[in-house]
Amino acid sequence: MQKKEDKLFCVGQNVLRKDGLTKAVGAAKYVDDYNYGGQLYAVTVRSPRPYIKINSINYEEAKKVEGFVTLVTHKDVPGSKLWHLVIADQPFLAEDTAKFAGEAIALVVAETFEAAKNAARLVTIDYTELPFSETILDSMKPGAPKIYKDNNIFASYTIERGDADKAFNEADVVVEKTFTTNYQVHVYLETQGMIAVPQDDGGVIVEGSMQCPFYALDAVAEALGITHNKVRILQRTTGGGFGGKEEVPSIVAVHAALCANKTKRPVKIIYDRVEDFQSMSKRHPSIVKIAYAANKEGKLTGVNVEYLTDAGAYSTMSTVVLWRGTVHPAGPYNIENVKIKTHTVATNKVPCGAYRGFGQPQVAFANESLIDELAEKLGIDPIDFRKMNMLKPGDTTVTGQKISASCGLEDVLTAVRKKSDWDNKRKNLDKNGTVKQGIGVSINYYGVGLGAGGRLMDRAGAMVIAHKDGSVIVAVGNVEMGQGANTVLAQIAAETLNAPYDDVKVGEVDTQKVPDSGPTVASRTTLMAGNATIDACMPIRERIFKVAKEMLVAMGAPKDEDMIAFKGMFSCGDKTVAYKDVVKECWTRRLKMSEQGWYVAERTTFDPVNGQGDAYVVYGFSANVAEIELDSLTGVVKVKKITAAHDLGKAINPDQVIGQVHGGALQGVGYALYENLQHKNGIMMNPNMADYIVPSTMEMPEFEVTIVESPYKEGPYHAKGFGEMPLIGPAPAIANAIKDAAGVRLLSLPMIPEKLWQAMQEKN
Ligand code: MTE
Ligand code: MOS
Repeated sequence: MQKKEDKLFCVGQNVLRKDGLTKAVGAAKYVDDYNYGGQLYAVTVRSPRPYIKINSINYEEAKKVEGFVTLVTHKDVPGSKLWHLVIADQPFLAEDTAKFAGEAIALVVAETFEAAKNAARLVTIDYTELPFSETILDSMKPGAPKIYKDNNIFASYTIERGDADKAFNEADVVVEKTFTTNYQVHVYLETQGMIAVPQDDGGVIVEGSMQCPFYALDAVAEALGITHNKVRILQRTTGGGFGGKEEVPSIVAVHAALCANKTKRPVKIIYDRVEDFQSMSKRHPSIVKIAYAANKEGKLTGVNVEYLTDAGAYSTMSTVVLWRGTVHPAGPYNIENVKIKTHTVATNKVPCGAYRGFGQPQVAFANESLIDELAEKLGIDPIDFRKMNMLKPGDTTVTGQKISASCGLEDVLTAVRKKSDWDNKRKNLDKNGTVKQGIGVSINYYGVGLGAGGRLMDRAGAMVIAHKDGSVIVAVGNVEMGQGANTVLAQIAAETLNAPYDDVKVGEVDTQKVPDSGPTVASRTTLMAGNATIDACMPIRERIFKVAKEMLVAMGAPKDEDMIAFKGMFSCGDKTVAYKDVVKECWTRRLKMSEQGWYVAERTTFDPVNGQGDAYVVYGFSANVAEIELDSLTGVVKVKKITAAHDLGKAINPDQVIGQVHGGALQGVGYALYENLQHKNGIMMNPNMADYIVPSTMEMPEFEVTIVESPYKEGPYHAKGFGEMPLIGPAPAIANAIKDAAGVRLLSLPMIPEKLWQAMQEKN
């Protein structure tokens, strides 16, 4: 169902955020704000070393702590000891070996949090240290410590199209460089936490902070060895996820459930910041070797990419993250000859997983940096060069997918060129002072949803009830984690039902209310849960609209005149009736005022041999221009302004879109310049917010955001989805601006002052 643009009253409006006030005044209740009678606390005992054989666990001293209740180990897992996420290689609690420093080995349960913490400190692990591997390259050497199977490779993908070797042989210009990127930590303000409450039928309710309640449902059911209908997962207000609450909360949920199962009492687990750093997922460090071939007129003819990611000790989401990285590393360009090879490699460090952008920010840094080098070699302006080669409707991607009509790439690039005053600044910025100014650009595309790599999960459900008082409740399977999903879905429901926005509420996710709707990741909620919500609303809408017309006619409105439904009012002729009164009448007539909705994404395909197929249902497009100042005495970079433009089909709530760009782009600034997680001998050196630097409001640049709406016919009110896009483009735009300012190009992230200063010394 799509209404005409000028008929929309709620979609496209800057309505107030549903969760704005409660969060702003501190009234929102997070998992740690909930408590249950008889509640216990659990603290995790972790491996101190990167790779160990566990000989025994001794807790004699721990038992003496007042309030100690029990120790939970792998022996207390009644169901599956291994977590079946993608590859079943990770135990919920370590058994014979632990493969990274920070891996969960046991849980101490006690009457108070303090007692649990003190007792956990007194648990000693007797272990034999094993040789370990800290880097991708070490893990790939012959004779490397075995972490996963024989070669330490969790997954590999290939894309081949045309004849890349020939294109490189015949090219007029070739550029090739190897880029590396470091970890990025989510630093959501709320650390991981769960409470499990045992039920009298042997089941359990687990509530907490998470993005993917259905992953937790699967994991808790399998670990306890009970059926899905005995497990109920409740998502509580989630203080940021950014991908870091995609897969890993399942581990915390299982741990809480195991403790509750053993003690038959509610058990709460709340992580402190250090253990959250040490044990929860991160963005994958990477090595990206990339080459482009072009002819002298400036047409890209070939691309060759080798992309390696550091998965850490267990596979978790690494294979899926790698797949997205496999589809996107050539950039949003029309290139005939393509060779892409990717691998995700096991190391003895914390498992990496989902983080906003999901395998793309790494390759975007590489390809958009190298595109600038190529443009420079050809003597073409970076924006002109991109314009000459970028994807347009009807062009094909590296997987051979035809770009649909919903492609606003040219518009986003034109917008940032104009709004940043690119043509003037590129020529006239000051490069002669000690503080050098620079401007740089990047463009990106982003496949919305899980695509062919996660096709079986790309569906979503919704339940809508139009209550007899006129209020509406919407239950969906995808979560609010700060991105504004509940507001957007409420707008979609209000628009579809012609209900006043203020009367629509979207509840927190309860796995007993809606069927498995897949994960809240891959910027898929607006599209999938939005369409499911429309699907649920439609039959109710029909009933409401029919009754409204009948009521209006009974009031004396002309029978054959069209009824207008707008802003919660129905009118015909000179008669009007409010949504609320129509719903009341529907209830009086005993009509069905609740419905389930379902949405299944369009078909996607991917040939495992050559990587060809329709990888994603649709793509979003973005362009970023960064303006920076580089102090040549210190190497310190200040990002002055980011001019961003995003094509997202339709902005359901434009203010929220702008907010997403501000937050995401600032994370991109952190990725580019500050965030620098360090390891030494397999141990994380700076697992805290004092030593791991993220940008704050002090580092916030000026933002100028343009929204481009290139409608997607399948989308709810033509929206595509875009939550991750803002983070992808800034790092390469900043790298290109640094090159513009000082003539130096860093090939590794983060671009910290010491590296830049060094590079400038070497150049002079
Ligand atoms: N914005 C806020 N404020 N908090 C978050 O945790 N997560 C990001 C992005 N924006 C996030 C956020 C990530 S990783 C994803 S996948 C999308 O939101 C998910 O939201 P969507 O599916 O509603 O687009
Ligand atoms: Mo977002 S990384 O897909 O949760």
